[in-house]
Amino acid sequence: MATTPSILLIPGDGIGPEVTEAAVAVLRASGLPLQFAEAEAGWGTFQRQGAALPDATLAAAQASDAILFGAVASPSHPVPGYRSPIVGMRRALDLYANIRPVASIPATLAAGRAPVDLVVVRENTEGLYAGRERLEDGGATAIAERVITRAASERIARAALELARARGQAAARPARVTVVHKANVLRETCGLFRSAALDVATAFPDVAVDELLVDTAALQLVQRPERFDVIVTTNLFGDILSDIACYWGGGMGMASSANLGRSTALFEPVHGAAPDIAGQGVANPLAAIGCAAMLLDHLATHVADPAPYLAAAQRTRAAASATLAHGPATPDLGGSATTAQVTAAVIERIQAA
Ligand code: NAI
Ligand code: MG
Repeated sequence: MATTPSILLIPGDGIGPEVTEAAVAVLRASGLPLQFAEAEAGWGTFQRQGAALPDATLAAAQASDAILFGAVASPSHPVPGYRSPIVGMRRALDLYANIRPVASIPATLAAGRAPVDLVVVRENTEGLYAGRERLEDGGATAIAERVITRAASERIARAALELARARGQAAARPARVTVVHKANVLRETCGLFRSAALDVATAFPDVAVDELLVDTAALQLVQRPERFDVIVTTNLFGDILSDIACYWGGGMGMASSANLGRSTALFEPVHGAAPDIAGQGVANPLAAIGCAAMLLDHLATHVADPAPYLAAAQRTRAAASATLAHGPATPDLGGSATTAQVTAAVIERIQAA
């Protein structure tokens, strides 16, 4: 990595640019030397240029040290030539580990919701999102192929086990990984995922490992979410379970995620383009600001002196926590503040730290 880390911004559609602007303001407030460049992707880009993920954007992403992605709008009906740019980037950049942490906030605890601190680790490159879909019988039958490989299953299991170990060590508590699958029905695909994950787990005797069928896991995420530490699962299951889990952390406006690979990494709020509130200046920026903190942690693993990056990530998290505790808050969290007001409050607290 160059001495000044390069960050590619892909603001996207809807509230994507609004929350990306907030995250960039927070990164600038860190005072660290960072270089920003911007590229486009999404529905607006598709309408202008006929490609949702232009080659130039992909090339810029490949060349950057980290990518901050806002959100894009994807039509639910098939549009010829349109493919989800985020799915395309995960595959092209081999961003195999989707890390989605969820933690309680003062508002959820005050509302009597369970105390939760968990991470969903989702395999990001294969499974039902491998993109192998086709029509047969003149369109009367639609078939999707679910691709599971031992190599991808092992590397995602290793990522989950290492993360659980680090979280356990940081909090001086036992670590646990729950392997979620449906191997009783999907015997070959989920069977392979399960056996690969359990094999890798034998090298982590300090991490307790259990397993749940995905439907049971969904119920337990509602009934007893506090039982979970790190969940590791396949692509589609992880997509769904992480949205359920988001509820315990204050909802979509609070959920951050990292897409990690071997070189660059992409950080994105879990939420989408939110057309219902886009342009109103009221999107909660804290999911994107949480992404900025994860991005700083990632840069720390690529520089000679990680300390200032780790400290900036920590200051960012502390400032976001203080803002959650003392306000201001956007409407999704019961407040009446704007995106800009919440962002300014976070920056003020970073600078006061
Ligand atoms: P969404 O996440 O955009 O919105 C769901 C609900 O959460 C809406 O009521 C929205 O107002 C609210 N919400 C989301 N983010 C918020 C924030 N930061 N602050 C306050 N409220 C927030 O999901 P939806 O409605 O299913 O999809 C809308 C569009 O976004 C679709 O075109 C979809 O394809 C796309 N999408 C894109 C994703 C991505 O870029 N990674 C992920 C999910 C959806
Ligand atoms: Mg999702």
